[in-house]
Amino acid sequence: MRPYGTITRGTTGVNRLRRSDRWLIHHPRVRKTLEFAADPLVVDLGYGAHPVTTFELAHRLRRVRRDVRVVGLEIDPERLAPPRNGVTFGLGGFELAGLRPTLVRAFNVLRQYPESEVAAAWAAMQSALHPDGLIIEGTCGELGRHCSWILLDKSGPVSLTLAWDPFSVELPSDVAQRLPKALIHRNVAGEAIHALLAAVDRAWLASAGHTAFGPRARWRETLTALHAQGIPVDLPRRRIRDCVLTVPWELVAP
Ligand SMILES: C[S@@+](CC[C@H](N)C(=O)[O-])C[C@H]1O[C@@H](n2cnc3c(N)ncnc32)[C@H](O)[C@@H]1O
Repeated sequence: MRPYGTITRGTTGVNRLRRSDRWLIHHPRVRKTLEFAADPLVVDLGYGAHPVTTFELAHRLRRVRRDVRVVGLEIDPERLAPPRNGVTFGLGGFELAGLRPTLVRAFNVLRQYPESEVAAAWAAMQSALHPDGLIIEGTCGELGRHCSWILLDKSGPVSLTLAWDPFSVELPSDVAQRLPKALIHRNVAGEAIHALLAAVDRAWLASAGHTAFGPRARWRETLTALHAQGIPVDLPRRRIRDCVLTVPWELVAP
C-alpha cells in the first residue's frame, strides 16, 4: 500500500503538543474510548524529524490506560525511527498503513497542504479508524503556546478547540493564526469562525475587571459570560493551566 500524502517539513519540538495532550487525557469521550477499547491502539501520524512528541503522547496516555499501544507513522522513509519505550514506528500516510486505531493524532500535518485536500485526508483517516475511534487533527505554533484542533469521529467533525498559554495573548483571537487548515482561510467576515472569535474577544474585553486576578480567572469569567449568552462553550470542570475554548463543530463549520 503506497502511503497517501506528501512529505512536508519535519519541524517539531519537545513538549510542543503538551496542551493537546493535557486536553486528551482529561476529555471524557477520549478517556472513555480508550478505556473501553478492545485494542487501545493509538497512531501518531506525521511525527516529524524526530519522534519526541510521540513518546510524550505515549507517556501521557498511559496515565489513562497503561496498556495503550502507540505507533508513530511517517510518510518520509528517512524519518523512520527505531522502536523505543514501547513505541513503534512505521511508514504510512492518511490511509494509516492498514492499522485500525482507536485514536489518531495528526498535528501540524495538514497545515502544509492546500485546504482543498482536507476533506479527502479526513475521509481516508476516518475510513481506517475503528468504528468507535476518534481523530484529533490540529495545528500549533513553534513552541506550542497557541494551538487549535478538531476532534473527529467516524462520521464527521465533533468539536473545535483553541488552547493557549494564558500569558501569551492580548485577545483570544490572536490564536486564529494557528487555526486548523479547515478553518484558517475562513476567518473572514461572513464566516461562522470569524463571528465566534469576535464574540469571544468582546466577552474577554468585557471581563477586563477580572484582570487583577490573572488571565486564567479572566478567561473563566469570559467563558461564563459566553455561556450566559447562549454560546455552547464547554465550561471547565477542573482548575486548568491553559486557556481553552471548546465548541461544537456545527457552530464553526464553514
Ligand atoms: C511539521 S511536522 C509535525 C511534527 C509533529 N507532529 C509536531 O506537531 O511537532 C509534519 C510531518 O508530517 C509528515 N507528513 C505529511 N503528510 C503526511 C501524511 N499524509 N502521512 C504521514 N506523515 C505525513 C511530514 O513528512 C512531516 O514530517
